[in-house]
Amino acid sequence: MKQGYRQVKRMTPAMRIIHWVNAICMIGAVVTGLYIGHPYYQTFIADGAVDKYVMAWNRYGHFIIAIIFDVTSVIIAYLYFFSRFEKPYKKLIPNAKNVSEFKAVLVNLLTLNRKKEFDSSHADSFNTVYFTIFHLLLIWMLLTGLQMYVHGLESGISSIGSWWPVMLHATTDWTVAVCGGSLMDVRISHHMTMWLILCWVVFHIYYQVWRTIFWKEADIAIVIGGSKFVKDDTLH
Ligand code: HEM
Repeated sequence: MKQGYRQVKRMTPAMRIIHWVNAICMIGAVVTGLYIGHPYYQTFIADGAVDKYVMAWNRYGHFIIAIIFDVTSVIIAYLYFFSRFEKPYKKLIPNAKNVSEFKAVLVNLLTLNRKKEFDSSHADSFNTVYFTIFHLLLIWMLLTGLQMYVHGLESGISSIGSWWPVMLHATTDWTVAVCGGSLMDVRISHHMTMWLILCWVVFHIYYQVWRTIFWKEADIAIVIGGSKFVKDDTLH
């Protein structure tokens, strides 16, 4: 290790696995989701015949990914409050310390690192707020997605019993009213939120690379090896 630098552990293996599962699944969800909304490719089987099941496969992939997102979202929601490593909810409370840290991190970004008046060794409230926006957008995708899905179970029954559509109606019917009153509004919201998430991803990746270059503390390594490296004299 470079002299004068100390290794700071920032992400457990579980957090890193969830991170990359989410990142890879997001690519799959966008590719299959755009197909479901607007079929944009065909696959040909022998003799130029068109494969009839492309939509079915895309929906299958999309739904499996949604299940993975359901699971990671529940785990992350739990860890926000009960993680033994670090509880992110503490950085979300708008107390004086967090608000001034949030501002300091923003000023640091806007001044291209000319001003840096906070401790960058630990998770900061700016990034935690930003990550929380992602988790909330993803939960909205899950709720609107499940609302569209339960409409496919029109009969009110399913192969695992009627409790399943009943539960989905009970937990997601309110999204119809919030989106504007019809299932088409839910569909549009699901689609528009995808673009918000993609904007989120663009800034997220930009900012992680930006921090790595400007702070010179190997921030990008957090999501690979779990640690970053901070100059000894800046450690508190
Ligand atoms: C090349 C691609 C990516 C890189 C290099 C990257 C890098 C990082 C790094 C370094 C962190 C830790 C930041 C810290 O602790 O201060 C992080 C956290 C995070 N990243 Fe990424 N990321 C990438 C792609 C993505 C994508 C595609 C998503 C979501 C679709 C995503 C979602 C998140 C979330 C939600 C967190 C916060 C951890 C949590 O609350 O679960 N990342 N990322």
